[in-house]
Amino acid sequence: MIPAAELIQRKRDGAELGADELAELVLGYTRGDVPDYQMAAFLMAVYFRGLSAAETFALTDAMIRSGETLDLGKALGRKVVDKHSTGGVGDKTSIAVGPIVAACGVPFGKMSGRGLGHTGGTLDKLESIPGYRVELSTDEFVEQVREVGMAIVGQTADLVPADKLLYALRDVTATVDNVSLIAASIMSKKIAGGADAIVLDVKVGDGAFMKTLDDARELGRAMIELGRRAGRETMCVLTDMEQPLGRAVGNALEVREAADTVRGQGPDDFTELVLDSVAHLLALSDLGIDEQEGRRRAEQAVATGAAFEAYERWIRAQHGDPDLDVLPLAPVVRDVIASRAGAVASLGAIRVGLAALHLGAGRRTKEDAVDHAVGVVCLKKRGDAVREDEPLAQVHARDDASAGEAAAEVLAAYELADTAPPAGPIVLEVLT
Ligand code: URA
Repeated sequence: MIPAAELIQRKRDGAELGADELAELVLGYTRGDVPDYQMAAFLMAVYFRGLSAAETFALTDAMIRSGETLDLGKALGRKVVDKHSTGGVGDKTSIAVGPIVAACGVPFGKMSGRGLGHTGGTLDKLESIPGYRVELSTDEFVEQVREVGMAIVGQTADLVPADKLLYALRDVTATVDNVSLIAASIMSKKIAGGADAIVLDVKVGDGAFMKTLDDARELGRAMIELGRRAGRETMCVLTDMEQPLGRAVGNALEVREAADTVRGQGPDDFTELVLDSVAHLLALSDLGIDEQEGRRRAEQAVATGAAFEAYERWIRAQHGDPDLDVLPLAPVVRDVIASRAGAVASLGAIRVGLAALHLGAGRRTKEDAVDHAVGVVCLKKRGDAVREDEPLAQVHARDDASAGEAAAEVLAAYELADTAPPAGPIVLEVLT
């Protein structure tokens, strides 16, 4: 076994490491044989020196081998599709995409994560539904996808344990934002989760990890390459995260908006992203249709109510109550009023995400409890005209004091100008 210190030194000096060497390091770290301080030094060397495509794949492969893998396709006897978003503010896409895909006859089984910081996690959002169980055994998960057509659950502890350890270490050593490390982290979980085809949504802008289109493209290409090397069909959309997605930011508020979108009553930008994602997923599925036909079927499933029926079936199967009237409501709802007439020039995603976090919708540390009822509803988005004294947004808060603070933060997130800029598309680019 090569000493970890030697591998750290070679990476520090810019050498390319072999697949066996990377596997030894990652598997040794997962077993507890390589200490945190050496892994932290290695991650910093990677941060500055980068990893080649071969090294990134070797790292991803070693991470997958650190735990169990699932072959959902084999268990179901069907080609299984999955989606992943790199995360942002108001991103409730999976909650709307899943039931529409299921209503179109394609199995959708997804493992999701929790939120940290200003980005929310799908599991936290789903837990705002009274009774919803996020923890199913692997057998229950597979059985539900077979019987009901879909499931969204928490990632099991046995799936890519190396990522849990590495992510926690990266989080406290300033080594999160490296393209190879992000790509390996995301794709190890997608590949281990057993999907045959994967649609990736890389968010770009103020509220995303990737602030520029160039960086997002680099991450998208790195993940597509990892999928290709692992024998999975992978494509990627780059989508706008300069402003929050849809209107709602906060757990129960986002579930309501996702459910409304499933029945055709969602905001325009979110509806477009959801229908576009479903079209890509159906085109990659075993239905044998192209994206145009996928889009047509997605729209039809929404219009006929089949998608909302699939939503209700799914939530009931996971012991939740699908009645939207039982979602928790915040006791204080305060309007955020425009100080002048004009148009919304920009709406900062991070600022709105942080306002929701400060209201209690997210976590500052892993141990924090989430308040499912609170959040922000952005009534006006980029490009919308505004009259003086018209509400720009609503703050849903636990008490008056937090409502006042959040209302000031949300107001500061809005930049108003004399004229409206074009709203701009939600899907910026498609990489295949
Ligand atoms: N999401 C992940 O799962 N991993 C990363 O490293 C970044 C975002």
